[in-house]
Amino acid sequence: MTTPVAELYQTLPYGPAPEAAEPAHQWLDAHQRQFGQYIDGAFTSPARLFDTINPANKQLLAQVTQASPEEVNTAVSAARRAFPGWSATPGHVRARYLYALARQVQKHSRLLAVLETLDNGKPIRETRDIDIPLVARHFYHHAGWAQLLEKEFPHHEPLGVVGQIIPWNFPLLMLAWKIAPALAAGNTVVLKPAEWTPLTALLFAEICDTVGLPPGVVNILTGDGKVGQRIVDHPDIDKIAFTGSTEVGRLIRAATAGSGKKVSLELGGKSPFIVFDSADLDSVVEGVVDAIWFNQGQVCCAGSRLLVQESVSERLNSKLRERMEKLRVGDPLDKAVDIGAIVAPAQLQKIERLVKQGEAEGAHLWQPSWACPVEGYFYPPTLFTEVAPSSTISQEEIFGPVLVSTTFRTPAEAVALANNTRYGLAASVWSEDINTALDIARKVKAGVVWVNSTNLFDAASGFGGYRESGYGREGGREGLYEYLKHKPRPAWQPPKPPARKRVKNGHAPNGHAGMPHIDRTPKLYINGKQARPDSGYSLPVYDSQGRLIGEVGDGNRKDVRNAVEAARAASARWSDASGHTRAQILYYIAENLSARADEFTHNLVEMTGLTSTLCRAEVEVAIQRLFTYAAYADKNDGAVHHTPLRNVTLAMPEAIGTLAIVCPDDQPLLGFISLVAPAIAMGNAVIVVPSERHPLAATDLYQVFDTSDLPAGVVNIITGVRDALAKVLAGHNDVDAIWYMGSAQGSALVEKASVSNMKQTWVSNGLSQDWLADDASDECLRRATQIKNIWVPYGV
Ligand code: NAI
Repeated sequence: MTTPVAELYQTLPYGPAPEAAEPAHQWLDAHQRQFGQYIDGAFTSPARLFDTINPANKQLLAQVTQASPEEVNTAVSAARRAFPGWSATPGHVRARYLYALARQVQKHSRLLAVLETLDNGKPIRETRDIDIPLVARHFYHHAGWAQLLEKEFPHHEPLGVVGQIIPWNFPLLMLAWKIAPALAAGNTVVLKPAEWTPLTALLFAEICDTVGLPPGVVNILTGDGKVGQRIVDHPDIDKIAFTGSTEVGRLIRAATAGSGKKVSLELGGKSPFIVFDSADLDSVVEGVVDAIWFNQGQVCCAGSRLLVQESVSERLNSKLRERMEKLRVGDPLDKAVDIGAIVAPAQLQKIERLVKQGEAEGAHLWQPSWACPVEGYFYPPTLFTEVAPSSTISQEEIFGPVLVSTTFRTPAEAVALANNTRYGLAASVWSEDINTALDIARKVKAGVVWVNSTNLFDAASGFGGYRESGYGREGGREGLYEYLKHKPRPAWQPPKPPARKRVKNGHAPNGHAGMPHIDRTPKLYINGKQARPDSGYSLPVYDSQGRLIGEVGDGNRKDVRNAVEAARAASARWSDASGHTRAQILYYIAENLSARADEFTHNLVEMTGLTSTLCRAEVEVAIQRLFTYAAYADKNDGAVHHTPLRNVTLAMPEAIGTLAIVCPDDQPLLGFISLVAPAIAMGNAVIVVPSERHPLAATDLYQVFDTSDLPAGVVNIITGVRDALAKVLAGHNDVDAIWYMGSAQGSALVEKASVSNMKQTWVSNGLSQDWLADDASDECLRRATQIKNIWVPYGV
């Protein structure tokens, strides 16, 4: 009896549709399935071998070398030797190399896709349609940056040798994200792939050979975390770029503290996927599939926390269960498979442990009725409902195909839940109502927000996190800055005296000359008011002759706590204020400072012992700075990126939040203003430790602020022992970033203490004061903001 066609349409099972693995196996065989390191343009002999397996069937694919300490040294030396030549290579020539790499990736795309799937376990559909095309796109895009570098970044130069450590979830894509911008900017590279997925990086090394990349420009070292650690610790490396766990990111931050190495970290996430009742639920279901079951959920920006408006949650959950029942887990080389294998047993165990914990903590678990294949490391798509926002599975990154669902009632509650995480990598917002979607996109603290879409990536759009998801961006213009530094500026000179209103050296203006000074005892400045220091102690302040001219509060941990609380409370309002409003207030501060310029000049003369001509110049330049940043308050625009697909991608600079600023001793007024003005112009609230030697220059500003309409809490000032206060601020979890302009020792201390919440740091390492220069405003503005990329699809 034949089955009716209509019934066949209902029951038709998928037949196998396997992608051929032979070319990849042939490539492995051609290397006797053993690999050495790629150093200085050649492969070393394999040694100290460890296995890399296919997680979908547990079979051995090949053995690779654990790099020895000597090999790490050799690779770094090779990169160092190659640096002068590569950085001097014209941008156009570097562009041609990058273009050639892109072409070769395309030519070998099938082999790369199959090899990636074998080594990692992710479905061929993803490696073929997403990973490898994005790799090629990244090299093409950065060929363009190499071509335009001199024109677009005229005052910048490459850093030198860059150490890059990448994870296993997107092995070749992460390699491209790291190597393409580094080479475009003129750096040389030592890159280590993850120990579980080294093979495509080794094939890429061969591609570098094929295109004739000069030896030493790219070096690939294989091995485990110890090799990574040696790269991080190597004294001849100028920058570390890392993608991986927050835990290792923390170790790297601590290990590089005080070394002067530039660091960018792309770490974990627990990204919210927010669904409003105005969303198209069928699209949402497909969005969820792409958010959490893409790459087995092993995605740093996976939409792992589903937040659903209560009125539609039941409907959505039942649609989801129906869809999950139809997902196919199995051989990742099969083109009709949705979910492949988990990368390694350790990762599978981590997922299983967290799922058990979720159940133990009372959440409701649902998995499809079918069983996963048993020959590999597979895990079924999983949905948790009735999850408390504070539970382990709501807070910890599971890095597996496990979705955790919670409900909300109002938009405000959705934002609160979305931001209830130590991470801030990405978010998805689903609503057909553009007002709701864009409003929520603005309010969620995340580096990338996808509206009615998820997990979209492109080389033109920066990617990177807020908070403990790390710092620095990859991709686009902002990603390039991570591989560049400003060319040395001429030694910073104190400002030239202004032409007008000269005052006689050594004599104070406005009839102060010869008068005994009035002893000043300002308190701290917290939440717009003067506050007595908690310690009850004061510190003496002396003039240049060693005479006591006043006392300032000796701030301590408690005062820092109060100031941070005030700043935190003020920051949301202040960052929401329009650029125009912030500009008005900065102009007003400038106006009030100008009205008291004589008094400030006199006080500076008294404190520093410098000539009144110089001190007058310091005041004048401080006023100009206030004007500069008032001007930028509504002009530091973002961009609209040209990303493929029908999207506008809005790159919006946002305030970082609560910023601590530790000022230098010299130029006590100009140093203060040059740092505080850009920070507040961009919408941050600040806690400032002024010059320790000349704190009165800052405390004199209290009245200026009080009369300039500056909202309480936007600027908080704590006088005292600078490094002790800096350490407390650097360790404070509610401080989002810290700038420290002082000694090398203090800089190291700040970087080390910053690991508590992975806050962004900007330190001067006791070196030049070139951030005081007029043309440092670009850098100050960049440091005062972080870019949020909001992807907005369009089309009917
Ligand atoms: P991991 O952070 O240990 O590994 C990432 C890379 O860092 C690998 O190349 C590894 O060899 C290297 N590494 C390890 N220890 C190091 C050290 N002390 N110094 C320098 N390099 C070091 O991540 P792992 O253990 O593979 O995965 C653990 C968890 O981390 C996952 O379950 C997931 O939650 C998270 N993760 C997040 C990733 C992301 O893209 N944000 C990627 C991979 C893992």
